[in-house]
Amino acid sequence: MTAPSTERDIPALVRAAIEKHGAKRDALIPILSEVNLALGYIPGEAFKEVRKQLHDPTEGVFVAESQLHALASFYDMLATKPRGEHVIKFCENAPCHVVGGKAVWDTLREKLSLKNGETTPDGKWTLVTTSCIGLCSVGPVVLVDEDLYGNVTPEQIGDILGRYE
Ligand code: FES
Repeated sequence: MTAPSTERDIPALVRAAIEKHGAKRDALIPILSEVNLALGYIPGEAFKEVRKQLHDPTEGVFVAESQLHALASFYDMLATKPRGEHVIKFCENAPCHVVGGKAVWDTLREKLSLKNGETTPDGKWTLVTTSCIGLCSVGPVVLVDEDLYGNVTPEQIGDILGRYE
């Protein structure tokens, strides 16, 4: 695989991802994931580039930009906007909700002054909801980057955030 010359060389980055995973429909998520990993999110230019480079009339691999956007929006691990230094994911599904998730979510939003999907002006925090991550028995569940916190209460939020100062 040919490495892109710079991180922001989006055409080269997309080319390298397509070479690695193949110009085929079932490689869309791995291709988008490569871009997300390299840049921290998938900029609009990258969606255009993936569509353009995959569109091979002889092979007939055509994917509309809107389909790529929809895919990226569906998967929590992919971002369509720049994210903060730390990404907080809050499980919003019912099993976490009924054991106190709503109060935890409200506290997170209040302490960070963020709504779902927003990033603090200093670029430190991004707050997003996620669907069930299979740890309902220890809900409410909060993920900060790769760190998992279970049985979270509103009172613990200040302490959890403080670990990343
Ligand atoms: S519902 Fe929250 S981890 Fe399953």
